[in-house]
Amino acid sequence: MGFSALLCACVVALCGAAPFTQSNEPDNDRPIIGILAQEVDDYMKKFGETYIPSSYVKYIESGGARVVAIRLNQSFAEHEKIFRSINGLLLIGGSVNLETSDFAHTAGIYFRLALKANNEGDYFPIWGTCLGFQLLTVLVAGQNLLSKTTAENVTYPLNFTSEASSSRMFTNFPSDVRKALSQEPLTANFHHYGVTKEAFMGNEKLNGFFSVLSTNIAQNGLEFVSTVEGRKYPFYGVQWHPEVSRFQWDPRYNFPHSSNAVRVSSLLAEFFVNEGRRSSHHFSEAAEESSALIYNYNPVYVANISAYEQSYFF
Ligand SMILES: *[C@@H]1O[C@H](CO)[C@@H](O)[C@H](O)[C@H]1NC(C)=O
Ligand SMILES: *[C@@H]1O[C@H](CO)[C@@H](O)[C@H](O)[C@H]1NC(C)=O
Ligand SMILES: *[C@@H]1O[C@H](CO)[C@@H](O)[C@H](O)[C@H]1NC(C)=O
Ligand SMILES: *[C@@H]1O[C@H](CO)[C@@H](O)[C@H](O)[C@H]1NC(C)=O
Repeated sequence: MGFSALLCACVVALCGAAPFTQSNEPDNDRPIIGILAQEVDDYMKKFGETYIPSSYVKYIESGGARVVAIRLNQSFAEHEKIFRSINGLLLIGGSVNLETSDFAHTAGIYFRLALKANNEGDYFPIWGTCLGFQLLTVLVAGQNLLSKTTAENVTYPLNFTSEASSSRMFTNFPSDVRKALSQEPLTANFHHYGVTKEAFMGNEKLNGFFSVLSTNIAQNGLEFVSTVEGRKYPFYGVQWHPEVSRFQWDPRYNFPHSSNAVRVSSLLAEFFVNEGRRSSHHFSEAAEESSALIYNYNPVYVANISAYEQSYFF
C-alpha cells in the first residue's frame, strides 16, 4: 500500500472547459461504476497480471452500484466502448508509476474522455483514492507535483478548508459527522508522497481545476492536500482511504473502524454512486452488461500475503 511518486511527464491539454450545467435529480437507478485494474506487485504475480482489491469493489457496491472491472491493455476503441457503458470511474490506491505504468496510461484515456463528455453535458464522475488521487493531480497539472509527505499507517481528522462548507462532497453529511470528521482520527493514511498545499495552490492548473476541501500535516511537518473536488467537473480525490474503515481488517494496520469512521465511509460511497446516477451511459445489450460485471469473477483470499483480505485478479 505504499505509493511511488516517480517523475511524470504526462502532458494533458485541458479542454477549454465549457461551463457544464448540473442536471436536476439523479435518474439512473442501476448505476455501474468502472474500477480500473492495476498492475500487481511482485508478491501477487502468481495470481495474475493485474488486480483490484475487494475492498474497493465492496465500497462501490455499498453505495448502491454494480462494478465493472476495467482491464488494462485494451485498444482505445474498447476503452471508448466501456466508457460509454459505465456511469463513473474509480481509480484505486496502490503503487505503480504515475508516468509509465499501464494503469496511468489507461487512466489518462478515461480522464480525457470524461473531460470531453462533461464539456458536452454528458455527466461522468471520477473518484481517485490515494494513488488514484495523485494520478488525477498529474493528469490535471500535466506534470508531477508530488513530494515526500509521508503519512504511513496513521489516522487523522481532516483539517477542513473554508471551501469545505460549500462542497458537494460533504453536503449530505449530517453536522455531527462533519464535526467528528474534523475532530476524530477517522481517515486512514498510507502514503509516502502527496501534493503539498503550497505546491497545489501555486499551480494554476490544479488550483483552477480543484477546490481543496481539506489538508493534513505529514509526518515530516509538511502540509499536504487531503481532499479535493472539481470546481466544474464531477472529479473527486482523497489522499486517504475511506474504503478501509469498512472493508479491511488486517490487525497490523491502523484502519479506523469506529462507528463514525464507518459512517464517513458509507456516506462517501453513497455520494459517489449518486454522482454516477446522473450518468445515462449504458451497455448496448443486457448480455454484454452481464458478462462485464464483476460477478463473473471470484476474489482470491490474500490476507496471508497482503493487507487486503480478498482481491480480484485479471
Ligand atoms: C500490457 O502490454 C505490454 C506490452 O505488450 C506488456 O509489457 C505489459 O505487461 C502488459 N500489461 C498488462 C498489465 O497486461
Ligand atoms: C491541522 O492544522 C493545524 C494547524 O496548521 C495543525 O497544527 C494540525 O497538526 C493539523 N492536523 C492534522 C491532523 O493534520
Ligand atoms: C500501524 O499502527 C498501529 C497503531 O499505531 C501499530 O500498532 C502497528 O504496529 C503499525 N503497523 C505497522 C506495520 O507499522
Ligand atoms: C495464501 O493463500 C493463498 C490462497 O489460499 C494460497 O494460494 C497461498 O499459497 C498462500 N500463501 C502463503 C504464503 O501462505
